[in-house]
Amino acid sequence: MAWGQAFGQPAHPPKVQGPWMDKTLSPDKRADMLIEQMTLDDKIQMVHGTGWGALRPGAPIPAGSNEGAGFIPGIERLGIPAINMADSAVGVRMAAGESRYATLLPSTLGAAASFDPEAAYLYGSVIGRELRDQGYNMSIGGGVDLIREPRNGRNFEYAGEDPILAGTMAGQLMKGLQSQQVMGDIKHYAFNDQETGRNILNVILDKRSMRETDLLAFQIAIKIAQPAGVMCSYNKVEGDWACENDYLLNQVLKKEWSFQGWVLSDWGGTHSTNKAALNGLDQEMPGDRFFGAPLKKAVDSREVPEARLNDMVHRILRSMFACGVIDNPPVRSVVDPFQGLEDARHIAEESIVLLKNEGNLLPLDAARVKSIALIGSHADVAVLSGGGSAQVDPPGGDPVTHLKGGSPWMHPVWFPSAPLKQIRALAPGATVQYNDGADLAAAAQLAKQSQVAIVFVNQYMSEGMDAATLSLPDNQDALVSAVAAANPRTIVVVESGGPVSMPWIANVKGVLEAWYPGIGGAQAMAAILFGEVNPSAKLPVTFAKSDADLPHPRVPGIELKPAGRPPAFDVDYTEGLKVGYKWFEAEHKEPLFPFGYGLSYTTFAYSALKADGNARTVTFDVKNNGKRDGTEVAQVYVSLPSAAGEPFKRLVAWKRVPLKAGESKTVTLQLDPLYVSIFNVEKDGFEVLPGDYQAFAGPLKAEFRISR
Ligand code: BGC
Repeated sequence: MAWGQAFGQPAHPPKVQGPWMDKTLSPDKRADMLIEQMTLDDKIQMVHGTGWGALRPGAPIPAGSNEGAGFIPGIERLGIPAINMADSAVGVRMAAGESRYATLLPSTLGAAASFDPEAAYLYGSVIGRELRDQGYNMSIGGGVDLIREPRNGRNFEYAGEDPILAGTMAGQLMKGLQSQQVMGDIKHYAFNDQETGRNILNVILDKRSMRETDLLAFQIAIKIAQPAGVMCSYNKVEGDWACENDYLLNQVLKKEWSFQGWVLSDWGGTHSTNKAALNGLDQEMPGDRFFGAPLKKAVDSREVPEARLNDMVHRILRSMFACGVIDNPPVRSVVDPFQGLEDARHIAEESIVLLKNEGNLLPLDAARVKSIALIGSHADVAVLSGGGSAQVDPPGGDPVTHLKGGSPWMHPVWFPSAPLKQIRALAPGATVQYNDGADLAAAAQLAKQSQVAIVFVNQYMSEGMDAATLSLPDNQDALVSAVAAANPRTIVVVESGGPVSMPWIANVKGVLEAWYPGIGGAQAMAAILFGEVNPSAKLPVTFAKSDADLPHPRVPGIELKPAGRPPAFDVDYTEGLKVGYKWFEAEHKEPLFPFGYGLSYTTFAYSALKADGNARTVTFDVKNNGKRDGTEVAQVYVSLPSAAGEPFKRLVAWKRVPLKAGESKTVTLQLDPLYVSIFNVEKDGFEVLPGDYQAFAGPLKAEFRISR
């Protein structure tokens, strides 16, 4: 039996007692001591690995491999453990094949809607805990590409359209994950903002826009989490592949941000040996085409200095020491599904956004409601999950497709979290009937004979594809319209990867955006529908009325057929700095629901906003005006002096403020100077411009003059 195949055993070889095992030494020192003992072959072995098992078809699975997405063999002689990497964006992937359990958390986009850094930290720690239990010592989750393209298939794995919110949430998530002594990763660096043509497209974007949008999100996340890894993306940026892009990797990530960990390529995203090595890539994944024998040859011939190879290996080893995977390797044990469910449910309760509640139809009164029609989206048995490498396997199989074991690629996978059961549990006096929504007339008929109709709609999204439109697929808009026409008390629950359009919005009384809500999703939805939980989440992404209002009315390149070899193409992000809500404000477009929006079952009032002259702090009062306890996500936006040329506000700070009915609190928020800065391309740095700034909190506005 290979190392790590049994419970209770470290998943990696035993420790060797070299001087580098002295824990009082710094991770850097320990890494250097190890490198002194390594041969050229040892070093080359560390800078590439295998994926999902064997290096080549037919080759044996290396001993010690967990058969996750990535594996780098250890060096037993030196006590260097293997690196077992798992995709784990929203929970640990590929568990079922090994008869293991993994908790499906709400999508990270949903978690971002909580605006709760503690929830993000908890999220990461759940994944870290379960990775350890499964014998992994590295996560390759941690997506933080900005939602520039609301139809991007991977938006559910990211953290929204605002760089400060996304960076904070992804950073806290990775910090929580690494708190479990598992190595983390932030990806896909950078500008992998759409899936269509991701392997061939070239992003065109000016430097200032790069630095103030997607790269700012990475900068913040990396600063918070100090992750072991950064995964470079598939696409090109300004003419160079991201995985051999000197500006992104050497100049910005390593030099300016002082990133200490290593850069690994997205799977198959390495394109060269010398250029990639010299421009900052530290590890080819998976395979050895560039960083196997060709790199050895390049080092032998000094085309790539050995010092650069040492730097690659140093970055890997120092991260292994810093994260504790050498001193405290994971020990296989059984995942605790109950703790996972509890944590997932808690995060889901903070993630679900109440978008509409006309006439306060919600929360439903369990004592008074006598009949409920539940319609569509397999709400009798399941909730939807997102696909691709963020796919988690449903425990016990998929209750809709009845498939068991490993999940299919790019096909909807449903999780056994049944809204019907949870709604029945909270409304024991009501008749709750389900209709699958396939026959509009039958669905409308059930709605008509019920006091309340709850329509569940969904949008399946996955890595490897984008939605062609914001519209719900499969005739679901017609379903909602038919039900709403039959019952004026219609509530819509949306399970989507990202924003969707809602042409029926005026005809329904309530809307909940539940994202992909995870294994605790049904409980969380029911708790909100019946008021056991007062919703507090806010949109981390703008919901447009229609595709026509977006910067790119069609996803660039979407007309290219995936079959054959489509030609490379440019994606010119002409919106530049105006990502998401900034686009809508600058272009004077009215969204369906703005960024930061979300209702509660109570109401909040803001007063007494003050800002200090240095734009360092803002203070204001928030009051719960209603009769229920609730939590307000108090958000502060700032607009910059006109010299900045930014005709929109920026989110710069926020805080979740729990308030009892009638209670008032004074909130003081610090403003990070970086968050009110602009990037000066000539000076190649961020700066705070002199001039007048305006701060907004909730419905209030204050002005202050900055002094320098
Ligand atoms: C994805 C990555 C993922 C990797 C390994 C790639 O296709 O873009 O996010 O980590 O595969 O599964």
